[in-house]
Amino acid sequence: MEKNKTFYITTPIFYPNDNMHIGHCYTTVASDVMTRYKKARGFDTLFLTGTDEHGQKIEKTAKEHGKAPLDYVNKIVEDTKSLWQSLDVQYDIFSRTTDKDHIKAVQQIFKKLHEKGDIYKDKYDGLYCTPCESFITETKAKETKNTCPDCGRAIENIKEDVYFFNLPKYLEHLKNHIEQNPHFISPESRKNEMLNLLKETGPLCVSRTTFTWGVPVEFDHGHVVYVWIDALSNYITKLGFNLEAEQGERYKNYWPANVHMVGKDIVRFHTIIWPAILMALGEPLPEKIFGHGFLKIKGEKISKSKGNSVEPNFLIDRYGKDSVRYFLMREMNLGQDADFTTPAFLNRINHDLANDLGNLVSRSLSMAVQYFPTSIASEGQLLNIEDIEKAMNAIGTNEDLNPTQAVKKTIAETITEVEKAMDNLMFSTALETIWTLIRRTNKYIDETTPWILAKDETKKEELSCVLYTLFEALRSISILIAPFLPNTAEYIKTHINSNKNNWDEAKEFGLLPKDLKVTKGDILFPRIDLKKEETELEKLFGESKNG
Ligand code: ME8
Ligand code: MG
Repeated sequence: MEKNKTFYITTPIFYPNDNMHIGHCYTTVASDVMTRYKKARGFDTLFLTGTDEHGQKIEKTAKEHGKAPLDYVNKIVEDTKSLWQSLDVQYDIFSRTTDKDHIKAVQQIFKKLHEKGDIYKDKYDGLYCTPCESFITETKAKETKNTCPDCGRAIENIKEDVYFFNLPKYLEHLKNHIEQNPHFISPESRKNEMLNLLKETGPLCVSRTTFTWGVPVEFDHGHVVYVWIDALSNYITKLGFNLEAEQGERYKNYWPANVHMVGKDIVRFHTIIWPAILMALGEPLPEKIFGHGFLKIKGEKISKSKGNSVEPNFLIDRYGKDSVRYFLMREMNLGQDADFTTPAFLNRINHDLANDLGNLVSRSLSMAVQYFPTSIASEGQLLNIEDIEKAMNAIGTNEDLNPTQAVKKTIAETITEVEKAMDNLMFSTALETIWTLIRRTNKYIDETTPWILAKDETKKEELSCVLYTLFEALRSISILIAPFLPNTAEYIKTHINSNKNNWDEAKEFGLLPKDLKVTKGDILFPRIDLKKEETELEKLFGESKNG
Protein backbone atom coordinates (compact mmCIF):
# COMPACT_ATOMS: atom_id res chain seq x y z
CA MET A 1 0.00 0.00 0.00
CA GLU A 2 1.27 3.50 -0.79
CA LYS A 3 2.47 5.63 2.10
CA ASN A 4 -0.23 8.23 1.53
CA LYS A 5 -2.84 5.57 2.17
CA THR A 6 -1.53 4.80 5.66
CA PHE A 7 -2.63 6.60 8.79
CA TYR A 8 -0.70 6.35 12.05
CA ILE A 9 -2.18 7.96 15.15
CA THR A 10 -1.01 7.87 18.76
CA THR A 11 -2.33 8.83 22.18
CA PRO A 12 0.17 9.84 24.86
CA ILE A 13 1.39 6.86 26.80
CA PHE A 14 -0.18 7.58 30.17
CA TYR A 15 1.50 7.34 33.59
CA PRO A 16 0.19 4.27 35.39
CA ASN A 17 0.58 5.95 38.77
CA ASP A 18 -3.17 5.66 39.25
CA ASN A 19 -6.23 4.49 37.35
CA MET A 20 -7.22 6.33 34.19
CA HIS A 21 -10.07 8.85 34.41
CA ILE A 22 -12.39 10.35 31.80
CA GLY A 23 -9.67 12.82 30.71
CA HIS A 24 -7.59 9.89 29.47
CA CYS A 25 -10.76 8.42 27.98
CA TYR A 26 -11.22 11.62 25.97
CA THR A 27 -7.83 11.39 24.21
CA THR A 28 -8.12 7.66 23.67
CA VAL A 29 -11.70 7.66 22.37
CA ALA A 30 -10.87 10.61 20.07
CA SER A 31 -7.97 8.62 18.60
CA ASP A 32 -10.18 5.56 18.23
CA VAL A 33 -12.87 7.60 16.47
CA MET A 34 -10.27 9.04 14.10
CA THR A 35 -8.84 5.59 13.38
CA ARG A 36 -12.27 4.12 12.65
CA TYR A 37 -13.06 7.09 10.40
CA LYS A 38 -9.80 6.79 8.44
CA LYS A 39 -10.28 3.04 8.14
CA ALA A 40 -13.77 3.61 6.77
CA ARG A 41 -12.21 6.00 4.23
CA GLY A 42 -9.92 3.24 3.01
CA PHE A 43 -6.72 4.02 4.92
CA ASP A 44 -4.41 1.35 6.27
CA THR A 45 -4.47 2.51 9.89
CA LEU A 46 -2.23 2.01 12.90
CA PHE A 47 -3.27 3.15 16.37
CA LEU A 48 -0.86 3.18 19.32
CA THR A 49 -1.65 3.78 22.96
CA GLY A 50 0.09 2.61 26.11
CA THR A 51 1.71 3.41 29.42
CA ASP A 52 4.75 5.42 30.48
CA GLU A 53 6.07 3.29 33.30
CA HIS A 54 9.48 4.61 34.31
CA GLY A 55 10.64 7.59 36.32
CA GLN A 56 10.76 9.08 39.74
CA LYS A 57 7.02 9.58 40.07
CA ILE A 58 6.18 5.92 39.45
CA GLU A 59 9.04 4.72 41.65
CA LYS A 60 7.81 6.95 44.47
CA THR A 61 4.15 5.97 44.12
CA ALA A 62 5.00 2.26 44.05
CA LYS A 63 7.07 2.65 47.20
CA GLU A 64 4.19 4.42 48.95
CA HIS A 65 2.09 1.33 48.15
CA GLY A 66 4.82 -0.99 49.43
CA LYS A 67 5.34 -2.51 45.99
CA ALA A 68 8.06 -2.96 43.42
CA PRO A 69 7.42 -0.54 40.51
CA LEU A 70 6.64 -3.24 37.96
CA ASP A 71 4.24 -5.07 40.32
CA TYR A 72 2.55 -1.80 41.01
CA VAL A 73 2.07 -0.76 37.38
CA ASN A 74 1.11 -4.23 36.12
CA LYS A 75 -2.26 -4.05 37.84
CA ILE A 76 -2.97 -0.57 36.49
CA VAL A 77 -1.95 -1.64 33.00
CA GLU A 78 -4.44 -4.54 33.16
CA ASP A 79 -7.20 -2.19 34.36
CA THR A 80 -6.32 0.31 31.64
CA LYS A 81 -6.56 -2.34 28.93
CA SER A 82 -9.87 -3.50 30.25
CA LEU A 83 -11.15 0.08 30.35
CA TRP A 84 -10.25 0.55 26.68
CA GLN A 85 -12.05 -2.69 25.90
CA SER A 86 -15.15 -1.50 27.78
CA LEU A 87 -15.10 1.64 25.64
CA ASP A 88 -14.62 -0.34 22.41
CA VAL A 89 -11.26 1.25 21.78
CA GLN A 90 -9.52 -0.81 19.11
CA TYR A 91 -5.81 -0.03 19.35
CA ASP A 92 -3.20 -1.97 17.38
CA ILE A 93 -0.27 -1.45 19.76
CA PHE A 94 -0.31 -1.21 23.54
CA SER A 95 3.09 0.28 24.19
CA ARG A 96 4.77 -0.27 27.56
CA THR A 97 8.08 1.44 28.20
CA THR A 98 9.11 -1.57 30.29
CA ASP A 99 8.99 -3.76 27.16
CA LYS A 100 12.43 -5.14 26.30
CA ASP A 101 12.39 -4.11 22.63
CA HIS A 102 11.64 -0.54 23.64
CA ILE A 103 14.38 -0.41 26.28
CA LYS A 104 16.94 -1.68 23.80
CA ALA A 105 15.98 0.86 21.16
CA VAL A 106 16.06 3.74 23.66
CA GLN A 107 19.59 2.72 24.64
CA GLN A 108 20.62 2.76 20.98
CA ILE A 109 19.11 6.21 20.52
CA PHE A 110 20.90 7.59 23.59
CA LYS A 111 24.17 6.08 22.45
CA LYS A 112 23.88 7.43 18.93
CA LEU A 113 23.18 10.97 20.10
CA HIS A 114 26.09 10.73 22.54
CA GLU A 115 28.46 9.53 19.80
CA LYS A 116 27.25 12.37 17.63
CA GLY A 117 28.11 14.89 20.35
CA ASP A 118 24.50 16.01 20.80
CA ILE A 119 24.44 14.46 24.27
CA TYR A 120 27.20 15.48 26.68
CA LYS A 121 27.91 15.42 30.42
CA ASP A 122 27.51 18.48 32.65
CA LYS A 123 26.23 19.58 36.05
CA TYR A 124 22.58 20.19 36.76
CA ASP A 125 21.78 22.45 39.67
CA GLY A 126 18.18 23.46 39.40
CA LEU A 127 14.54 22.73 39.89
CA TYR A 128 12.33 19.75 39.12
CA CYS A 129 8.62 18.92 39.27
CA THR A 130 8.16 15.21 39.93
CA PRO A 131 4.42 14.96 39.12
CA CYS A 132 5.12 16.51 35.69
CA GLU A 133 8.58 14.94 35.41
CA SER A 134 9.86 18.27 34.12
CA PHE A 135 12.81 20.62 34.65
CA ILE A 136 11.96 24.18 35.54
CA THR A 137 14.07 27.27 34.87
CA GLU A 138 15.01 29.73 37.63
CA THR A 139 13.17 32.54 35.84
CA LYS A 140 9.96 30.57 35.65
CA ALA A 141 10.25 29.47 39.28
CA LYS A 142 10.62 33.08 40.37
CA GLU A 143 7.43 34.03 38.53
CA THR A 144 5.50 31.22 40.17
CA LYS A 145 7.03 31.54 43.65
CA ASN A 146 8.73 28.15 43.55
CA THR A 147 5.79 26.12 42.33
CA CYS A 148 5.44 24.21 39.07
CA PRO A 149 4.25 26.58 36.31
CA ASP A 150 2.18 23.72 34.86
CA CYS A 151 0.54 21.96 37.79
CA GLY A 152 1.08 24.48 40.61
CA ARG A 153 2.60 21.93 42.98
CA ALA A 154 5.78 22.18 45.03
CA ILE A 155 9.04 21.75 43.15
CA GLU A 156 12.36 20.46 44.43
CA ASN A 157 15.99 21.34 44.04
CA ILE A 158 18.19 18.75 42.40
CA LYS A 159 21.96 18.73 41.99
CA GLU A 160 23.36 16.01 39.76
CA ASP A 161 26.14 15.24 37.29
CA VAL A 162 24.06 14.29 34.31
CA TYR A 163 23.82 14.18 30.54
CA PHE A 164 22.42 17.07 28.51
CA PHE A 165 20.92 17.16 25.05
CA ASN A 166 22.04 20.08 22.90
CA LEU A 167 18.51 21.24 22.17
CA PRO A 168 19.47 24.82 21.15
CA LYS A 169 21.35 23.37 18.14
CA TYR A 170 17.99 22.41 16.57
CA LEU A 171 15.81 25.34 17.56
CA GLU A 172 16.32 27.46 14.46
CA HIS A 173 15.47 24.54 12.20
CA LEU A 174 12.47 23.73 14.37
CA LYS A 175 11.23 27.31 14.32
CA ASN A 176 11.31 27.27 10.52
CA HIS A 177 9.51 23.97 10.44
CA ILE A 178 6.73 25.26 12.70
CA GLU A 179 6.34 28.42 10.66
CA GLN A 180 6.38 26.68 7.31
CA ASN A 181 3.95 23.94 8.30
CA PRO A 182 0.89 25.69 9.65
CA HIS A 183 -0.79 22.41 10.58
CA PHE A 184 2.16 20.94 12.46
CA ILE A 185 0.81 22.34 15.75
CA SER A 186 -2.99 22.27 15.96
CA PRO A 187 -5.20 23.93 16.79
CA GLU A 188 -3.59 27.12 15.56
CA SER A 189 -3.93 28.80 18.99
CA ARG A 190 -1.18 26.60 20.46
CA LYS A 191 1.33 27.54 17.79
CA ASN A 192 2.37 30.98 19.03
CA GLU A 193 2.64 29.75 22.57
CA MET A 194 5.18 27.18 21.38
CA LEU A 195 7.10 29.69 19.26
CA ASN A 196 7.47 31.84 22.37
CA LEU A 197 8.64 28.89 24.43
CA LEU A 198 11.32 28.14 21.85
CA LYS A 199 12.99 31.44 22.67
CA GLU A 200 13.66 30.45 26.26
CA THR A 201 14.65 26.85 25.63
CA GLY A 202 18.13 25.82 26.73
CA PRO A 203 19.97 22.48 26.84
CA LEU A 204 17.81 19.68 28.19
CA CYS A 205 18.88 17.38 30.98
CA VAL A 206 18.39 13.82 29.69
CA SER A 207 19.62 11.51 32.42
CA ARG A 208 19.14 11.08 36.17
CA THR A 209 21.31 9.47 38.82
CA THR A 210 19.39 9.67 42.10
CA PHE A 211 17.02 6.78 41.44
CA THR A 212 17.13 3.62 39.35
CA TRP A 213 13.67 3.03 37.88
CA GLY A 214 14.38 3.83 34.26
CA VAL A 215 16.25 2.74 31.15
CA PRO A 216 19.92 2.35 32.14
CA VAL A 217 22.45 4.34 30.12
CA GLU A 218 24.56 1.48 28.76
CA PHE A 219 27.88 3.28 28.67
CA ASP A 220 27.62 5.02 32.05
CA HIS A 221 26.23 2.93 34.88
CA GLY A 222 24.32 4.83 37.51
CA HIS A 223 22.49 6.93 34.93
CA VAL A 224 18.94 6.29 33.78
CA VAL A 225 17.46 8.00 30.72
CA TYR A 226 15.19 10.98 31.49
CA VAL A 227 11.65 9.64 31.43
CA TRP A 228 10.42 12.01 28.69
CA ILE A 229 13.16 10.90 26.26
CA ASP A 230 12.28 7.29 27.13
CA ALA A 231 8.55 7.97 26.67
CA LEU A 232 8.56 10.02 23.47
CA SER A 233 10.78 7.47 21.75
CA ASN A 234 8.05 4.87 22.12
CA TYR A 235 6.27 6.30 19.07
CA ILE A 236 9.06 4.89 16.90
CA THR A 237 10.57 2.10 18.99
CA LYS A 238 7.26 0.23 19.05
CA LEU A 239 7.24 0.30 15.24
CA GLY A 240 10.55 -1.51 15.23
CA PHE A 241 12.85 1.51 14.92
CA ASN A 242 16.35 0.14 14.99
CA LEU A 243 19.79 1.67 14.69
CA GLU A 244 21.72 -1.58 14.58
CA ALA A 245 19.77 -3.65 12.08
CA GLU A 246 17.19 -3.12 9.37
CA GLN A 247 14.24 -0.93 10.33
CA GLY A 248 11.08 -2.78 11.30
CA GLU A 249 8.31 -3.17 8.70
CA ARG A 250 5.95 -1.00 10.68
CA TYR A 251 8.49 1.77 10.95
CA LYS A 252 9.00 1.67 7.20
CA ASN A 253 5.28 1.61 6.48
CA TYR A 254 3.80 3.98 9.04
CA TRP A 255 6.38 6.53 10.17
CA PRO A 256 6.09 9.56 10.21
CA ALA A 257 2.94 9.59 12.34
CA ASN A 258 -0.01 11.50 10.94
CA VAL A 259 -1.30 12.65 14.32
CA HIS A 260 0.08 12.69 17.86
CA MET A 261 -3.11 13.31 19.82
CA VAL A 262 -2.25 14.88 23.19
CA GLY A 263 -3.71 17.15 25.85
CA LYS A 264 -2.56 20.76 25.93
CA ASP A 265 -0.42 20.04 29.03
CA ILE A 266 2.15 18.11 27.01
CA VAL A 267 2.10 19.88 23.66
CA ARG A 268 5.49 21.43 24.42
CA PHE A 269 7.18 18.05 24.94
CA HIS A 270 5.77 16.88 21.61
CA THR A 271 6.47 20.02 19.59
CA ILE A 272 9.90 20.97 20.93
CA ILE A 273 11.76 18.07 22.53
CA TRP A 274 10.43 15.30 20.31
CA PRO A 275 11.04 16.95 16.94
CA ALA A 276 14.53 18.00 18.06
CA ILE A 277 15.36 14.39 18.97
CA LEU A 278 14.07 13.23 15.60
CA MET A 279 16.13 15.89 13.82
CA ALA A 280 19.21 14.77 15.72
CA LEU A 281 18.49 11.21 14.61
CA GLY A 282 17.93 12.36 11.03
CA GLU A 283 14.39 10.93 10.99
CA PRO A 284 11.26 12.59 9.57
CA LEU A 285 8.98 14.62 11.83
CA PRO A 286 5.35 13.76 12.61
CA GLU A 287 2.81 15.51 10.44
CA LYS A 288 0.64 16.95 13.20
CA ILE A 289 0.55 17.38 16.95
CA PHE A 290 -3.01 17.99 18.03
CA GLY A 291 -3.40 19.49 21.51
CA HIS A 292 -6.93 19.20 22.86
CA GLY A 293 -8.36 21.00 25.88
CA PHE A 294 -9.04 19.67 29.37
CA LEU A 295 -12.10 18.08 30.85
CA LYS A 296 -12.84 19.89 34.06
CA ILE A 297 -15.02 19.48 37.10
CA LYS A 298 -16.25 22.71 38.60
CA GLY A 299 -13.68 24.59 36.58
CA GLU A 300 -10.76 22.46 37.80
CA LYS A 301 -8.78 20.08 35.61
CA ILE A 302 -9.66 16.47 36.32
CA SER A 303 -6.45 14.82 37.38
CA LYS A 304 -5.18 11.60 38.87
CA SER A 305 -3.16 13.40 41.50
CA LYS A 306 -5.96 15.76 42.48
CA GLY A 307 -8.27 12.78 42.89
CA ASN A 308 -11.29 14.62 41.53
CA SER A 309 -11.87 12.04 38.81
CA VAL A 310 -15.10 10.64 37.51
CA GLU A 311 -14.94 6.85 37.45
CA PRO A 312 -15.33 5.94 33.77
CA ASN A 313 -16.30 2.32 34.49
CA PHE A 314 -19.21 3.53 36.55
CA LEU A 315 -20.51 5.70 33.71
CA ILE A 316 -20.04 2.92 31.16
CA ASP A 317 -21.84 0.32 33.30
CA ARG A 318 -24.72 2.59 34.14
CA TYR A 319 -25.29 4.43 30.84
CA GLY A 320 -23.55 2.37 28.18
CA LYS A 321 -20.32 2.81 26.28
CA ASP A 322 -21.84 4.64 23.32
CA SER A 323 -23.34 7.26 25.64
CA VAL A 324 -19.95 7.94 27.20
CA ARG A 325 -18.21 8.06 23.82
CA TYR A 326 -20.90 10.39 22.51
CA PHE A 327 -20.71 12.77 25.44
CA LEU A 328 -16.93 13.05 25.28
CA MET A 329 -16.83 13.69 21.55
CA ARG A 330 -19.81 16.04 21.49
CA GLU A 331 -19.16 18.18 24.54
CA MET A 332 -15.60 19.35 23.87
CA ASN A 333 -15.10 21.93 21.12
CA LEU A 334 -11.92 22.10 19.11
CA GLY A 335 -9.02 22.92 21.40
CA GLN A 336 -11.21 24.24 24.21
CA ASP A 337 -11.89 22.97 27.71
CA ALA A 338 -15.19 21.38 28.67
CA ASP A 339 -16.89 20.88 32.00
CA PHE A 340 -18.12 17.48 33.06
CA THR A 341 -21.37 17.83 34.95
CA THR A 342 -23.96 15.18 35.60
CA PRO A 343 -26.85 17.29 34.22
CA ALA A 344 -24.89 18.00 31.01
CA PHE A 345 -24.14 14.31 30.59
CA LEU A 346 -27.70 13.13 31.30
CA ASN A 347 -29.20 15.83 29.08
CA ARG A 348 -27.07 14.76 26.15
CA ILE A 349 -28.32 11.21 26.60
CA ASN A 350 -31.96 12.30 26.83
CA HIS A 351 -31.98 14.91 24.07
CA ASP A 352 -29.55 13.75 21.46
CA LEU A 353 -29.50 10.01 21.96
CA ALA A 354 -32.95 9.08 23.31
CA ASN A 355 -35.13 11.79 21.72
CA ASP A 356 -33.45 12.45 18.41
CA LEU A 357 -31.68 9.27 17.39
CA GLY A 358 -33.41 6.61 19.49
CA ASN A 359 -36.85 7.88 18.61
CA LEU A 360 -36.11 8.06 14.92
CA VAL A 361 -34.93 4.48 14.86
CA SER A 362 -37.77 3.05 16.92
CA ARG A 363 -40.51 5.02 15.16
CA SER A 364 -39.24 3.95 11.76
CA LEU A 365 -38.88 0.30 12.67
CA SER A 366 -42.28 0.11 14.41
CA MET A 367 -44.11 1.66 11.49
CA ALA A 368 -42.48 -0.62 8.96
CA VAL A 369 -43.24 -3.73 10.98
CA GLN A 370 -46.83 -2.61 11.60
CA TYR A 371 -47.71 -1.45 8.08
CA PHE A 372 -45.73 -3.99 6.07
CA PRO A 373 -45.34 -7.20 8.11
CA THR A 374 -43.78 -9.12 5.21
CA SER A 375 -41.61 -6.66 3.35
CA ILE A 376 -41.96 -3.09 2.25
CA ALA A 377 -42.08 -3.63 -1.50
CA SER A 378 -44.05 -6.86 -1.62
CA GLU A 379 -46.98 -5.19 0.05
CA GLY A 380 -46.45 -1.61 -1.00
CA GLN A 381 -45.21 -2.14 -4.57
CA LEU A 382 -42.52 0.40 -4.23
CA LEU A 383 -42.50 3.18 -6.79
CA ASN A 384 -39.16 4.29 -8.08
CA ILE A 385 -37.70 7.24 -6.28
CA GLU A 386 -38.50 9.81 -8.97
CA ASP A 387 -42.15 8.84 -8.67
CA ILE A 388 -42.11 9.19 -4.93
CA GLU A 389 -40.51 12.58 -5.23
CA LYS A 390 -43.34 13.55 -7.56
CA ALA A 391 -45.91 12.08 -5.24
CA MET A 392 -44.40 14.04 -2.39
CA ASN A 393 -45.17 17.27 -4.20
CA ALA A 394 -48.73 16.72 -3.14
CA ILE A 395 -47.67 17.22 0.45
CA GLY A 396 -47.71 20.85 1.51
CA THR A 397 -44.34 22.30 2.40
CA ASN A 398 -42.76 25.72 2.57
CA GLU A 399 -39.52 24.52 1.11
CA ASP A 400 -38.65 24.56 -2.55
CA LEU A 401 -37.94 20.88 -2.43
CA ASN A 402 -40.47 18.28 -1.43
CA PRO A 403 -39.66 16.35 1.75
CA THR A 404 -38.05 13.38 0.02
CA GLN A 405 -35.84 15.58 -2.11
CA ALA A 406 -34.96 17.63 0.96
CA VAL A 407 -33.88 14.56 2.93
CA LYS A 408 -31.80 13.30 0.01
CA LYS A 409 -30.13 16.68 -0.26
CA THR A 410 -29.43 16.84 3.47
CA ILE A 411 -27.81 13.40 3.33
CA ALA A 412 -25.44 14.51 0.57
CA GLU A 413 -24.56 17.80 2.27
CA THR A 414 -24.06 16.15 5.64
CA ILE A 415 -21.50 13.70 4.34
CA THR A 416 -19.40 16.45 2.73
CA GLU A 417 -19.46 18.50 5.91
CA VAL A 418 -18.69 15.54 8.15
CA GLU A 419 -15.65 14.70 6.03
CA LYS A 420 -14.42 18.28 6.26
CA ALA A 421 -14.87 18.37 10.04
CA MET A 422 -13.25 14.97 10.59
CA ASP A 423 -10.23 15.81 8.47
CA ASN A 424 -9.68 18.74 10.85
CA LEU A 425 -10.29 16.59 13.96
CA MET A 426 -13.41 18.63 14.74
CA PHE A 427 -15.34 15.81 16.34
CA SER A 428 -18.01 17.93 17.94
CA THR A 429 -18.75 19.74 14.67
CA ALA A 430 -18.99 16.42 12.85
CA LEU A 431 -21.55 15.15 15.37
CA GLU A 432 -23.53 18.38 15.25
CA THR A 433 -23.74 18.01 11.48
CA ILE A 434 -24.85 14.38 11.70
CA TRP A 435 -27.52 15.42 14.18
CA THR A 436 -28.85 17.97 11.69
CA LEU A 437 -29.55 15.06 9.37
CA ILE A 438 -31.11 13.03 12.19
CA ARG A 439 -33.44 15.91 13.06
CA ARG A 440 -34.26 16.49 9.38
CA THR A 441 -35.20 12.83 9.08
CA ASN A 442 -37.43 13.04 12.14
CA LYS A 443 -39.10 16.04 10.56
CA TYR A 444 -39.64 13.98 7.40
CA ILE A 445 -41.84 11.61 9.39
CA ASP A 446 -43.90 14.50 10.70
CA GLU A 447 -44.27 15.96 7.20
CA THR A 448 -45.22 12.75 5.44
CA THR A 449 -47.48 11.40 8.24
CA PRO A 450 -47.17 7.70 7.44
CA TRP A 451 -49.93 6.88 9.97
CA ILE A 452 -52.39 8.82 7.80
CA LEU A 453 -51.11 7.29 4.56
CA ALA A 454 -51.57 3.88 6.19
CA LYS A 455 -55.30 4.40 6.56
CA ASP A 456 -55.79 4.84 2.82
CA GLU A 457 -55.43 1.73 0.59
CA THR A 458 -54.66 3.92 -2.43
CA LYS A 459 -51.64 5.44 -0.64
CA LYS A 460 -49.80 2.15 -0.14
CA GLU A 461 -47.17 2.88 -2.76
CA GLU A 462 -46.53 6.27 -1.35
CA LEU A 463 -46.27 4.84 2.14
CA SER A 464 -43.76 2.23 1.08
CA CYS A 465 -41.67 4.92 -0.56
CA VAL A 466 -41.73 7.11 2.53
CA LEU A 467 -40.52 4.20 4.64
CA TYR A 468 -37.90 3.26 2.08
CA THR A 469 -36.59 6.83 2.14
CA LEU A 470 -36.50 6.72 5.92
CA PHE A 471 -34.43 3.56 5.95
CA GLU A 472 -32.07 4.92 3.33
CA ALA A 473 -31.52 7.95 5.57
CA LEU A 474 -30.97 5.63 8.54
CA ARG A 475 -28.50 3.60 6.52
CA SER A 476 -26.44 6.73 5.81
CA ILE A 477 -26.77 7.86 9.43
CA SER A 478 -25.53 4.49 10.69
CA ILE A 479 -22.43 4.75 8.48
CA LEU A 480 -21.73 8.30 9.64
CA ILE A 481 -22.11 7.57 13.35
CA ALA A 482 -20.16 4.29 13.22
CA PRO A 483 -16.75 5.80 14.18
CA PHE A 484 -18.36 7.44 17.23
CA LEU A 485 -21.07 4.99 18.24
CA PRO A 486 -20.01 1.60 16.89
CA ASN A 487 -22.64 -0.36 18.82
CA THR A 488 -25.53 1.87 17.87
CA ALA A 489 -24.44 1.79 14.24
CA GLU A 490 -24.33 -2.00 14.38
CA TYR A 491 -27.83 -2.12 15.89
CA ILE A 492 -29.24 0.03 13.09
CA LYS A 493 -27.50 -1.92 10.33
CA THR A 494 -28.75 -5.20 11.75
CA HIS A 495 -32.35 -4.07 12.18
CA ILE A 496 -32.64 -2.47 8.76
CA ASN A 497 -30.86 -5.45 7.24
CA SER A 498 -28.26 -3.39 5.44
CA ASN A 499 -25.15 -4.81 3.85
CA LYS A 500 -24.24 -1.54 2.12
CA ASN A 501 -22.20 -0.01 4.89
CA ASN A 502 -19.02 1.36 3.33
CA TRP A 503 -18.34 5.05 3.75
CA ASP A 504 -18.87 5.82 0.08
CA GLU A 505 -22.12 3.88 0.12
CA ALA A 506 -23.48 6.47 2.55
CA LYS A 507 -23.40 8.90 -0.37
CA GLU A 508 -25.56 6.79 -2.65
CA PHE A 509 -29.30 6.70 -2.37
CA GLY A 510 -31.25 3.53 -3.12
CA LEU A 511 -28.86 0.75 -2.13
CA LEU A 512 -31.22 -1.09 0.20
CA PRO A 513 -33.12 -3.92 -1.51
CA LYS A 514 -36.57 -2.93 -2.68
CA ASP A 515 -38.14 -5.87 -0.83
CA LEU A 516 -36.66 -4.54 2.39
CA LYS A 517 -37.57 -6.39 5.57
CA VAL A 518 -36.74 -4.76 8.89
CA THR A 519 -37.06 -6.00 12.46
CA LYS A 520 -37.98 -4.31 15.72
CA GLY A 521 -35.55 -4.28 18.62
CA ASP A 522 -35.10 -3.16 22.20
CA ILE A 523 -35.08 0.53 23.04
CA LEU A 524 -31.68 1.95 22.05
CA PHE A 525 -31.37 4.69 24.69
CA PRO A 526 -33.97 4.58 27.47
CA ARG A 527 -34.98 8.05 28.66
CA ILE A 528 -33.59 8.96 32.05
CA ASP A 529 -35.78 10.56 34.70
CA LEU A 530 -33.42 13.41 35.54
CA LYS A 531 -34.73 14.23 39.02
CA LYS A 532 -34.76 10.62 40.12
CA GLU A 533 -31.37 9.89 38.63
CA GLU A 534 -29.66 12.86 40.23
CA THR A 535 -31.03 11.88 43.62
CA GLU A 536 -29.76 8.34 43.04
CA LEU A 537 -26.33 9.61 42.08
CA GLU A 538 -26.11 11.89 45.06
CA LYS A 539 -26.94 8.93 47.26
CA LEU A 540 -24.20 6.91 45.58
CA PHE A 541 -21.46 9.55 45.68
CA GLY A 542 -22.40 12.59 47.62
CA GLU A 543 -22.68 15.90 45.83
CA SER A 544 -19.00 16.77 45.71
CA LYS A 545 -18.02 13.98 43.35
CA ASN A 546 -20.47 14.64 40.55
CA GLY A 547 -21.00 18.35 40.68
O1 ME8 B 1 1.74 13.22 30.51
N1 ME8 B 1 -8.78 16.37 30.24
O2 ME8 B 1 0.94 11.14 31.11
P1 ME8 B 1 -0.39 11.51 31.91
C1 ME8 B 1 -8.39 15.90 29.05
N2 ME8 B 1 3.24 10.03 30.51
N3 ME8 B 1 -7.34 15.08 28.88
C2 ME8 B 1 -6.66 14.70 29.96
C3 ME8 B 1 -7.01 15.15 31.25
C4 ME8 B 1 -8.13 16.02 31.37
N4 ME8 B 1 -8.56 16.48 32.53
N5 ME8 B 1 -6.15 14.61 32.14
C5 ME8 B 1 -5.29 13.85 31.41
C6 ME8 B 1 1.86 12.01 30.59
N6 ME8 B 1 -5.60 13.89 30.10
C7 ME8 B 1 3.07 11.33 29.97
C8 ME8 B 1 2.87 11.28 28.46
S1 ME8 B 1 3.68 10.69 25.99
C9 ME8 B 1 5.15 10.32 25.24
C10 ME8 B 1 4.03 10.73 27.69
C11 ME8 B 1 -4.92 13.18 29.01
O3 ME8 B 1 -0.87 10.24 32.51
C12 ME8 B 1 -4.33 14.15 28.00
O4 ME8 B 1 -4.13 13.46 26.79
O5 ME8 B 1 -0.17 12.66 32.81
C13 ME8 B 1 -3.01 14.49 28.64
O6 ME8 B 1 -2.09 15.05 27.73
C14 ME8 B 1 -2.57 13.13 29.12
O7 ME8 B 1 -3.80 12.50 29.55
C15 ME8 B 1 -1.56 13.18 30.25
O8 ME8 B 1 -1.42 11.89 30.75
MG1 MG C 1 -0.06 14.43 33.83
